[in-house]
Amino acid sequence: MMSLTLPFLLTFLALSQAQPLSDDPPQPSTTVCIVGAGIGGSSVAHFLRKYSPESTPATDIRVFERNGVVGGRIATVTVAGETFEAGASILHPKNLHTVDYVKILNLKINEPDSDPLSLGIWNGKKFVFKTVTLSSNVPLINKLLELPFVDTLLSLFNSARMFLRYGFSLFKMQNFVESAVERFLNYYKDTSSRPIFETVDEMLQWAGLYNLTTRTLHDELVDAGLSNLLIDELVTVITRINYGQSVSMSGLGGAVSLAGSGGGLWSVKGGNWQMAAGLINRSDVALHLHEEIKSVADLGDFYELNSTKGNSYKCEVAVVATPLDELDIQFIPPISIPERKMQHTYTTFVRGFLNPAYFGLKAETKIPDLVGTVEDPSLPFSCIAVLKKHNEKESTYKLFSRQPMEDTLLDSIFSVRKETIQINWAAYPHYHAPEVFAPFILDKRHLYYVNAFENAASTMETSAVAAENIARLILSRYFGKEIVNSSNLSATSRGEGTHLDL
Ligand SMILES: Cc1cc2nc3c(=O)[nH]c(=O)nc-3n(C[C@H](O)[C@H](O)[C@H](O)COP(=O)(O)OP(=O)(O)OC[C@H]3O[C@@H](n4cnc5c(N)ncnc54)[C@H](O)[C@@H]3O)c2cc1C
Ligand SMILES: *[C@@H]1O[C@H](CO)[C@@H](O)[C@H](O)[C@H]1NC(C)=O
Ligand SMILES: *[C@@H]1O[C@H](CO)[C@@H](O)[C@H](O)[C@H]1NC(C)=O
Ligand SMILES: *[C@@H]1O[C@H](CO)[C@@H](O)[C@H](O)[C@H]1NC(C)=O
Ligand SMILES: *[C@@H]1O[C@H](CO)[C@@H](O)[C@H](O)[C@H]1NC(C)=O
Ligand SMILES: *[C@@H]1O[C@H](CO)[C@@H](O)[C@H](O)[C@H]1NC(C)=O
Repeated sequence: MMSLTLPFLLTFLALSQAQPLSDDPPQPSTTVCIVGAGIGGSSVAHFLRKYSPESTPATDIRVFERNGVVGGRIATVTVAGETFEAGASILHPKNLHTVDYVKILNLKINEPDSDPLSLGIWNGKKFVFKTVTLSSNVPLINKLLELPFVDTLLSLFNSARMFLRYGFSLFKMQNFVESAVERFLNYYKDTSSRPIFETVDEMLQWAGLYNLTTRTLHDELVDAGLSNLLIDELVTVITRINYGQSVSMSGLGGAVSLAGSGGGLWSVKGGNWQMAAGLINRSDVALHLHEEIKSVADLGDFYELNSTKGNSYKCEVAVVATPLDELDIQFIPPISIPERKMQHTYTTFVRGFLNPAYFGLKAETKIPDLVGTVEDPSLPFSCIAVLKKHNEKESTYKLFSRQPMEDTLLDSIFSVRKETIQINWAAYPHYHAPEVFAPFILDKRHLYYVNAFENAASTMETSAVAAENIARLILSRYFGKEIVNSSNLSATSRGEGTHLDL
């Protein structure tokens, strides 16, 4: 690892020594074009401004978004007059960039839900495991064992039954996740001690996370000493909820997915998309909504980006901030990236009432608030969760599935169905070990790819982390400088929000 890290440190030092030449003659105006207004594209704009405030306004930033709204895979739906996250829902307390966004954008965080919710693991025939709805004295066993899993997704580990079923394997799982989270924190180190990474591989190697992408989550967890029961049930339930995939996904994505089931999870009140909107708003950006980029041509001194509106834009630097896997943007000259498949997740919102008979139960009240599932191809959904109980006879539910949920199927699962909204997301990469990464720099010049990082793990925060590195790459490779100042990140107060959307 040293041999990989060192050249970049040296590059970095050379650049930072060049830095005092800050009263260079003013450069002619430069345009950075960003394709995609999700959290990745908006974060690139944000970090360019943050690390290079003095080049404003000599640098124009244009952001192109084919949709009429920003946020991309962060979006809300409205069911029965209430707003719910339809895409990315939860953030981890150690997601330090997004924690910082909320602070600088003055956004509010959702308060923890104090109602304990129940989890059931459904195998298609019966619930193989069910938490009981807890009374206040039950968490004692967790206190004694200091499981950090209090206030988890659905308080699900907050249960003596969990310990009885999975035993000390739960600690091993916790250690596995904590060690990955610890390593990830390297990406928030001061920029003076953190290299700028030209490839995803180097970026992961430097933090000690690369190996996790070379093996399956299953193999990693077996080596970590987890029991098969825990892997086949609880871990599988979580990877199916968070990534729609089994434990044969790669280990890093798997670790991230398990971290997403831990305590202190939060979300932005009114919708996580406001982070992207706020960053764009404060980054002095020309935002082109409803403008899809269809070609990117390298014309030597600049790139020419043509849109479906018939417009043509000249940019010295171009950034692709969207997965290229399902797009047909024409690159001239052509670029080559490894093949990657996106995992589609159908997110179905239903306002109505579950049918207890589908689960072999007598009353709806016996159905757990979150129904997770084991890996079995005959199971038509990954999970069903109640988002909101409107009254005795009506709730809003969210389902995840790998295939569309047909009406006949929904009619067997629900006894009442008043409103149904289904979204087909090209949600995240289909992870497989070993992962092969596309380059951050697509053409050895100034064409960058934020979502090359996404097959390490796909989250709002990992998009922001990749975007920060891309902004530093642009500043060092195009503008020939690197800002030495620390980004001075710090975690704000903890545990202020637990959000129970999936
Ligand atoms: C159902 C679901 C649940 C998830 N849950 C979580 C979660 O709980 N927590 C979490 O952190 N993450 C979660 N994720 C993952 C998270 O949503 C993504 O990792 C993250 O939002 C990716 O952001 P991005 O900016 O990189 O890409 P995107 O959000 O996909 O942004 C790309 C943008 O580019 C635009 N675009 C594409 N092509 C063009 C073009 N040619 N011209 C112009 N614009 C274009 C798109 O319209 C889009 O707005 C979830 C994702 C899904 C789908
Ligand atoms: C990664 O794996 C290689 C080869 O197995 C090993 O030499 C190295 O120490 C591992 N690195 C980390 C950070 O675990
Ligand atoms: C944009 O930022 C300005 C302040 O810079 C603020 O007044 C305004 O409300 C913001 N708009 C949105 C949509 O966030
Ligand atoms: C982009 O648009 C310009 C101006 O209309 C045109 O000359 C050029 O051929 C177009 N490029 C591509 C790749 O379509
Ligand atoms: C770095 O920080 C110092 C003090 O915090 C500030 O005076 C200086 O302008 C900053 N430099 C840049 C390039 O942001
Ligand atoms: C970072 O924060 C510390 C403590 O708040 C402060 O002393 C220091 O000057 C800050 N550094 C920069 C570069 O802003």
